[in-house]
Amino acid sequence: MCGIVGFVGAEPAAPVLLDGLRHLEYRGYDSAGIAIFSPEHGLDVVKTKGRLQALADLLEGGKQLEGCLGIGHTRWATHGEPNDVNSHPHVSEDGNIAVVHNGIIENYMEIKEFLISKGIHFTSETDTEVVAQLLEYYFGKSGDIMAAVTKVLHRIEGSYALGILCSSNPDQLIAAKKASPLILGYGDGCSLIASDVTALLKYTRDVSYMDDGEVAVLSAGGIQVYNSMMEPISKEHAHIDWDISAAEKGGYEHFMFKEIMEQPAAIRKTVFPRVKEGRVVLDDLSITKEYVQSLKKIDIIACGSSYHVGMVQKYTLEQLTRLPVEVVLASEFRYCDPIVDDKTLVIVISQSGETLDTLEAMKEAKRRGARTLGIVNVVSSSIARESDDVLYTWAGPEIAVATTKAYSTQLALLDLVGLYLADLLGTVKPEDYKSAIDEILLLPSKIENVLADKETIQYYASRYFNHDSVFFIGRNLDYALGMEGSLKLKEISYIHSESYASGELKHGTISLIENGTLVVALATYSPLFDKAMSNVIEVKARGADVLALTTVSHKTSMEKIANGVITIPDTIPMLLPSLGVVPLQLLSYYIALMRGCDIDKPRNLAKSVTVE
Ligand code: G6P
Repeated sequence: MCGIVGFVGAEPAAPVLLDGLRHLEYRGYDSAGIAIFSPEHGLDVVKTKGRLQALADLLEGGKQLEGCLGIGHTRWATHGEPNDVNSHPHVSEDGNIAVVHNGIIENYMEIKEFLISKGIHFTSETDTEVVAQLLEYYFGKSGDIMAAVTKVLHRIEGSYALGILCSSNPDQLIAAKKASPLILGYGDGCSLIASDVTALLKYTRDVSYMDDGEVAVLSAGGIQVYNSMMEPISKEHAHIDWDISAAEKGGYEHFMFKEIMEQPAAIRKTVFPRVKEGRVVLDDLSITKEYVQSLKKIDIIACGSSYHVGMVQKYTLEQLTRLPVEVVLASEFRYCDPIVDDKTLVIVISQSGETLDTLEAMKEAKRRGARTLGIVNVVSSSIARESDDVLYTWAGPEIAVATTKAYSTQLALLDLVGLYLADLLGTVKPEDYKSAIDEILLLPSKIENVLADKETIQYYASRYFNHDSVFFIGRNLDYALGMEGSLKLKEISYIHSESYASGELKHGTISLIENGTLVVALATYSPLFDKAMSNVIEVKARGADVLALTTVSHKTSMEKIANGVITIPDTIPMLLPSLGVVPLQLLSYYIALMRGCDIDKPRNLAKSVTVE
């Protein structure tokens, strides 16, 4: 999703902005641009459709533009197709004001009509251009850019992170935030803004996170932040201590492959410090036993793969706690008049901590009295800051759009949460608790075993990469696992893929099975293995080519029927999806590789979805 950078300092801004935008590329985008102010040339804007390299080529790496003050943007199109004109920055008609924006101005049509009635001409189809033009309109009345910013922020509705340049304020960059993330960087003789800390790390590790309603004025000498009443405030600073190399490829061809391989280490980091002397210890959780015992249900809210983690956890958490668990897509939860109250624990899962639907759904749950627990990867992200409790998945920066290690750490962390809650509720037998802990501690090394057999998956990818439609089937935990396997495949290989609860096949989907249709049959869940076999037989009888995933102990039985079998080590049921997802990630990866797809930056997708 759109990425913003801004810089003001003593050195030329353009190379700094290009470097920052490079670190935001992973968020997903379709065009890029920068605006630079210099006393000699005023505002210069260069923007283009396509990859950042196209912009860098136009600018010869930044040499083409002078000036130490600038803003840059990678655009993920919402209003208006991806083309040069719709790319950001957008400039007011008199060329005095340039704006970059992440978010959606929901009432832009009404403002646009108003401005057109005042004789202002628009060049793009975007919602963002109204911000630049409205700023010009108000600036023309008062000659005071801060007064104009205040008026504009009162008038626009929706979500925004904004970077604003005004040639009449030649030393300052103005930033504003509501619902979309924006981070301030305090450099040595320079100040920066960015949508994501990765874009700042080369220049500073001293940052603060803007809150909704705040406006910041940046100059080379420092940053002044104002609250929504335009009163000056001082912000808490955070120090970023992770290494930038964690967000680089380190010799791997793709971030996705690197992140798949990092899963054992990421799970160790997430889980091991939270298990002490055989017990789950969640020091960072402030909920009490009385509160847990008062609960009537648990809701899980998330989007995308994080939602699929919720689907797995419905089975696991219900089994462990005997509380009803409802898993709701955040975009649906927001508008479904949800039945939650102070007897509902709402678990909010998000890698980025910035997914707008998830954030807003969480706020809705809080308004209705529920307590919220964030399961988040990005430290100090909006969801982390706004949930009542937060538990971090220590997966490190995840760059590939298709999530892998974040998914795995979310699963493992919620397994610990489930055991913790079950222990407080008295719904887990001591021997089951103990064997769960023992197995969780073995999980990283079992994943290493699966990864060591990646050539087998590569072989199956070479056998199936030419298929144009794939069905994932499974029951119970395998059904939830299939949802993630199917999403991974469609995200990065563009193969049509669907996942079904095996029992539902006969209610419609089986009509789509014909000679040679690829069915990935998930049969890791032992209690239902025989039923899984029956479904494999059913689709085979209609001509399907079946690639099965099962545990080592069921390999021989499955080999008698399926066309191909991938195995994972045996483990307790709740951990099966943690092992089973790894070959599915690898299968998607290798298939996408063989189809020549842009694996880390799949078309149309964004890593951090900060619009509705
Ligand atoms: C995007 C990403 C997915 C992710 C989803 C939810 O669609 O491409 O990989 O699962 O957003 O993101 P979150 O950061 O909230 O987990």
